[in-house]
Amino acid sequence: MTTTAFDDRDGVIWLDGAFVPWRDARLHVLSHGLHYGGGVFEGVRVYGGRAFKPVEHFERLHASARELGFRVPFDVTELDAAMRETVRRQDIVDGYVRPVAWRGSEQLSVSGAGTSVHVAIAAWEWPHVFSGDARSRGIRLRTSRWRRPAPDTAPVRAKAASLYNICTLARDEAEAAGYDDALLLDFRGHLAEATGANLFLVIDGALHTPTPDTFLDGITRQTVLSLAADLGIAVHERHIGPEELDRADELFLTGTAYEVQPVRAVDARSYEVGSVTTALSKAYTDLTRAVTAP
Ligand SMILES: Cc1ncc(COP(=O)(O)O)c(C=O)c1O
Repeated sequence: MTTTAFDDRDGVIWLDGAFVPWRDARLHVLSHGLHYGGGVFEGVRVYGGRAFKPVEHFERLHASARELGFRVPFDVTELDAAMRETVRRQDIVDGYVRPVAWRGSEQLSVSGAGTSVHVAIAAWEWPHVFSGDARSRGIRLRTSRWRRPAPDTAPVRAKAASLYNICTLARDEAEAAGYDDALLLDFRGHLAEATGANLFLVIDGALHTPTPDTFLDGITRQTVLSLAADLGIAVHERHIGPEELDRADELFLTGTAYEVQPVRAVDARSYEVGSVTTALSKAYTDLTRAVTAP
């Protein structure tokens, strides 16, 4: 995939309370966040110029930072205002916003005590993660050898940058093997999630989704669960073994970036885009686009 590098674009980025030219939004090489993984981030989608569920995302940014033992020095209202202004200045219609917070350079030992916390918000146009056939007929997943860690091993509820090295390893291996994404099990061997999205199975017309005790309880996941309730679709949130992939009729992923993304294969198993996936995908599209109505 070739895109213009993310440090070489036009426009502005909000950094620590002020707008700076895009190419000048830099951090020092001796930042604690870079060396020891003290960073948290968010992904927010913009539809028709307006963000979907911004408060939920900024509350989660704060919660993720708390999990890592630091405080984001701007409250949710300030971050929301900064994001709106970023979206306006970047003239984003259908796009993506990336808020990120990280520990600064006051010291460079394992201890994070006394480090300042920096915050940036960047936004760019980004209609869909997957396009064409993959978007409509579904993506292909490969079960990864990498697993989601136990909650007493890593801060699994935080959207922490450090946890994404597992996702990057899994994703790169899946892509190298010709798949679109990886499916990760958790440390117990239960189904967990993909590298940037939560997992749903449809079995006999009902929705089954793994209990989010080793991974992010996604904002899209929660939205889809409430849409399923509205549509009268039965939901079972539980621990699910990988053998249950054999009895699923439909499979899909949810995430801010992925939205409701059908899955057409996991390893050698294949799935159709069925009526439950179609109904929830439509309901999610209607809801996100309705937010933009004047
Ligand atoms: C690893 C991971 N799991 C799940 C999700 C889905 O979360 P959300 O729906 O809040 O975007 C994401 C995306 O943010 C993610 O990166």
